Amino acid sequence: MRDARARALRDLRISVTDRCNFRCTYCMPKDVFGKDYPFLPHAQLLSFEEIARIARVFVDHGVGKIRLTGGEPLLRRNVERLVEMLAGLGDVDLTLTINGSLLARKARALRAAGLKRVTVSLDSLDDRVFRAMNDADYPVAQVLDGIDAAEAAGLAPLKVNMVVKRGVNDGDILPMARFFRGSGRVLRFIEFMDVGATNGWRMDDVVPSAEVIARINAEMPLEPVDPNYSGEVAERWRYRDGGGEIGVISSVTQAFCRDCTRARLSTEGMVYTCLFATSGFDLRALVRGGASDEELGAAIRRIWRARADRYSEMRTAQTAGLRKIEMSYIGG
Ligand code: GTP
Ligand code: 5AD
Ligand code: SF4
Ligand code: SF4
Repeated sequence: MRDARARALRDLRISVTDRCNFRCTYCMPKDVFGKDYPFLPHAQLLSFEEIARIARVFVDHGVGKIRLTGGEPLLRRNVERLVEMLAGLGDVDLTLTINGSLLARKARALRAAGLKRVTVSLDSLDDRVFRAMNDADYPVAQVLDGIDAAEAAGLAPLKVNMVVKRGVNDGDILPMARFFRGSGRVLRFIEFMDVGATNGWRMDDVVPSAEVIARINAEMPLEPVDPNYSGEVAERWRYRDGGGEIGVISSVTQAFCRDCTRARLSTEGMVYTCLFATSGFDLRALVRGGASDEELGAAIRRIWRARADRYSEMRTAQTAGLRKIEMSYIGG
């Protein structure tokens, strides 16, 4: 099954909650996501059974990789039960992207549920910078403890995501690279993106990945590595002396829409065919209206075949101002 630009459907990113205990300035700025923010009421969320059913139909249509996101996935109560249900779908690469703050508590249960690996976000090793970026006063140590617990539980190899903002944490590029070098953990540097409609994105705040690589290479020589698979989001590099691997995710300076094989399922069951979508398709209405698996499959085929998204290839200062769906809702 191919979309209008001949791209296959391979990955499904599922947001399991629109809530988060962090208020990262680039994702859920506090002045927007405050005490009165209308997060989704429980009845609107897809149940685990509904998520697993939809996921199964996606798997039947070619999805081989499922990633749970949020918000913070570990805030969804008993999320390990969902992990167990999805792990039972068979030959699917199942992972979670989480902020690490709740990982120490949950790592063993997640592993026992059949999870193999996780990706943890960490933007700085400097407590002052990190607290300012998560804007919820979480210390670095809590995330590092979570990372240790994950590895102790067998969730490996672990990836670490660092969103880089110029003038905010670009001073942490080298300290982060030094810290994770030789650890077996793969650090990935992500260009700050204009997700949602509230994060105040400006091109001036973006540190191009080429600059990140140049800075690291000057101290710790690097060489490129072939992608793990076609359409991989991160571009891989390794230290020439065997110190391991890093990655850069360059949605702004080197858009990767041409190979984009990802669909997104929001917390309340909307399907979006782009991270930067302004509208989606209501699968929950079908599910709760009694649709059969065949009808769900037909809807997915229709959505995918009509898809022509390539937002990052067309990004301008003007498109950044579009009323896009928030990332915490759509599922990063
Ligand atoms: P693995 O290759 O399995 O590690 O997954 P990943 O790198 O796709 O997932 P992760 O959740 O760690 O995402 C890393 C960053 O890439 C996040 O900032 C995502 O929002 C971003 N990203 C993932 N998919 C897309 C995409 O389709 N388009 C854009 N523009 N960004 C994406
Ligand atoms: N730009 C780039 N990456 C972002 N993330 C969240 N918001 C943004 C943004 N505006 C990252 C998170 C997490 C991943 C799912 O997306 O830090 O690692
Ligand atoms: Fe929460 Fe992740 Fe968004 Fe930060 S980036 S506010 S941790 S969902
Ligand atoms: Fe895919 Fe949209 Fe990201 Fe392009 S911008 S890679 S189409 S999700």
